[in-house]
Amino acid sequence: MKAVIILAAGNGTRMKSPIPKVLHTVAGKPMLQWVIDAIDPLNFEQIIIVASPILEFETKPSNVDVIVQGKPLGTGDALQIGVSKLNSNINKVLLICADTPLLDQADLKNLINSTADLTVAAMEINDLSKSYGRVELNDKSQPVAIVETKHNEKDKINKLANAGAYAFNAKMLRELLPQLKPNQESGEIYATDLVALAFAKNYSTGVIYAREENFFGVNTIVELTAAESIMQDRLKKAHMLNGVRFVLPETSYVNYDAEIAAGAYIEPNVYIGERVRIAAFARILSYSYISECLILSQATIGPFAHLRANVVVEEGATIGNFVEVKNSLIGKKAKAKHLSYIGDASIGEATNIGAGTITCNYDGFNKFKTQIGKNVMVGVNTTLVAPVFLGDGAYVAAGSVITEDVTPNSLAISRSIQQEKAEWAVNFRARNARKLS
Ligand code: UD1
Ligand code: CA
Repeated sequence: MKAVIILAAGNGTRMKSPIPKVLHTVAGKPMLQWVIDAIDPLNFEQIIIVASPILEFETKPSNVDVIVQGKPLGTGDALQIGVSKLNSNINKVLLICADTPLLDQADLKNLINSTADLTVAAMEINDLSKSYGRVELNDKSQPVAIVETKHNEKDKINKLANAGAYAFNAKMLRELLPQLKPNQESGEIYATDLVALAFAKNYSTGVIYAREENFFGVNTIVELTAAESIMQDRLKKAHMLNGVRFVLPETSYVNYDAEIAAGAYIEPNVYIGERVRIAAFARILSYSYISECLILSQATIGPFAHLRANVVVEEGATIGNFVEVKNSLIGKKAKAKHLSYIGDASIGEATNIGAGTITCNYDGFNKFKTQIGKNVMVGVNTTLVAPVFLGDGAYVAAGSVITEDVTPNSLAISRSIQQEKAEWAVNFRARNARKLS
């Protein structure tokens, strides 16, 4: 029976942020959640998270035991606290850190399948200035120690870095953990000291090799952005291999949960935020910011459009530049092509919303709905004061302020009648010319 312990406590001091480190997001998902999701398919009998007292779970995963490490006394102390929660039938324990969001399942499977009493995941690094601990091997390629380079700068010449993931024989772990001593310089108890201890007690030690990218550790905001870049590359590559066209993928952001169908077309500099679904043949044009929306086939969004908070754009509809749409349904082949705010509205099939149309949906206390039927022509610069209903086939004259419902197929016009004063400009200019002379 195997268990996994995820270390998610610690102060995250180097992040210099009031947000607990492991709740910082990568592609919109907290780092800790990436780690939980990576281990989820591996069928562990027990999952234990060692959390700091300030770590709050939005929804605590149901099959997970959370135990709090009161003080951040180091990874060894955290591991010991985790082990105190282990079920008695567990004989193998994986240890992973919650600040490594780019985990790969193949590496974790290698760790699970390792046979030594203690197996370390190691990675060859090119940038020797990195702060990872270094794995020391004997001439039989067995790990004999891990040295923390923050205390031993000279060990930085060793290219073999500790990935921060290990597999342990549970019995050995229970025996050795109480023997760990605090590090003399930092006062913390290091899980990494288990390697030298296990080797000295004649336990077998082994190593698996992994790509550095998969165990990239996040300790600072700079490293968080580096992890974000790698994750963004991975996500967009997966979408592209599924048939999604990103014209310049490196310029666009994609949240982890975006569902984009093959044949969708995404121009440069698009932001695809949370809960977005895009159908085949939909087109998202440059500089659009979209979140919480469903965009159906043949619809075109942007350039420079903003969709948010529950928007559905049906087949063949168009949302053009400088149009913001919130909590609204845009019917099939409907168009709002320029400079509008459409909030809490439903717009029927083939309706045209003229440039500058604004729904007035909010009175400072409540939100109200604007309902527009099919084949309606809303003239430019129309103000729709909700709640209001425009019947199928109606026309609204440009510049109108609409406060009453409009019956189907009628014309609503609400603006002052134009006057004309003949020769007024001639007299005006003459008056002013006299003043100047
Ligand atoms: C650790 C390893 C280092 C390895 C690196 C890999 C130790 C002593 N060092 O260093 O060899 O190369 O990870 O990324 O283990 N945590 C707790 N409680 C604590 C301290 C930390 O739960 O008291 C958690 C943190 O939330 C984090 C993880 O343990 O997820 C690792 O701690 P961190 O301080 O980031 O260790 P590193 O300095 O990165
Ligand atoms: Ca770390």
